[in-house]
Amino acid sequence: EKEGYEHFMIKEIHEQPKGVSETLLRRLDKEDHIVLDGIKLTKEDLDKINKIYIVACGTAYHAGLVGRYAIEKFAKIPVEVDVASEFRYRDPFVDENTLFIAISQSGETLDTLAALREAKRKGARILSIVNVVGSSVARESDDVFYTWAGPEIAVASTKAYTTQLVAMYLVALHMAMTKGTLSQEEYKKIMAELKSMPEKVQRVLNNCDTIQHLADHQFNNESVFYMGRGVDVNVAHEGSLKLKEISYINSFAIAAGELKHGTIALIEDGTLVVALATQDKLYDKMLSNIQEVRARGAYVVGVAKEGNKEIEKTADVVLYIPDTMDELTPILSVIPLQLLAYYIAVARGCDVDKPKNLAKSVTVE
Ligand code: F6R
Repeated sequence: EKEGYEHFMIKEIHEQPKGVSETLLRRLDKEDHIVLDGIKLTKEDLDKINKIYIVACGTAYHAGLVGRYAIEKFAKIPVEVDVASEFRYRDPFVDENTLFIAISQSGETLDTLAALREAKRKGARILSIVNVVGSSVARESDDVFYTWAGPEIAVASTKAYTTQLVAMYLVALHMAMTKGTLSQEEYKKIMAELKSMPEKVQRVLNNCDTIQHLADHQFNNESVFYMGRGVDVNVAHEGSLKLKEISYINSFAIAAGELKHGTIALIEDGTLVVALATQDKLYDKMLSNIQEVRARGAYVVGVAKEGNKEIEKTADVVLYIPDTMDELTPILSVIPLQLLAYYIAVARGCDVDKPKNLAKSVTVE
């Protein structure tokens, strides 16, 4: 079933152009208008909604962080994102004017399901983004958006994440066009970029040799830091989770601006820092942050858009992604991070598809 790949994880990483394309194209009509069969939110419904909670666990939560960014940017509705196991116990401000969005690959994660039930009890409308058709989360929701990742077997989630991102962008754009917060022109531009994503994801995948080579030299670190600004920090969190769960390296992610408020104390000679610098608006700020950690001896792997070559002067290695709008970079920038985690875990001899202590679907609290 691995079709020649060594592990399910790497097979699923390579299935992302297809997953992204299916999740996107199945929702577009001939004029590239978004058609969401499972979602019945009208303009009236949306005008009533004054707050959105996105709730999920792990990787799906990280997709939710990008979702907040997209919804606030495009549809101008305030969004809060929470991990499901925290949401329920903090007495969230949920009422009938709240839209609750659950994200779950399996649709069976008990924490997410319990949070959904709590929000429903308080009167919220429930929209879910789910990969498994007919799963519990899908069945208990008012509106459902199915991602088309196909079955995900490796414990570490990869193609589910990128399809969840596409789902979040489509939901955000759908809301924006229904509410009238984006012009036709802006919509067309974003949609054209979204449609180029499968091919751009493929281009990043074609470069996996560079990343394998890097991993063969950088697999022995005791700890790894991921940093970024803006939407990059959300992707940094996902990259860090991928690494720790399959390679057992202690890793974490921070907003680069927070470095000097504490974390920089941990940087020493040879510390591996993965620095995402894909946001045009924040590029110069990121270059200064890279300089700060380099000055303390860090080995920096930068992630940047093709053409932004300035970073080569400060980072030790740069992994490039194809150029795109700042808003959409997560679909591309997560790919080198997935590959890096994968090849580091392989170099360390880890059981990549079945990491210790982890289960694919967490149906206990
Ligand atoms: C990480 C991973 C987990 C899941 C989380 C939620 O690679 O797979 O963090 O993302 O357990 O699972 P679902 O999406 O099935 O609710």
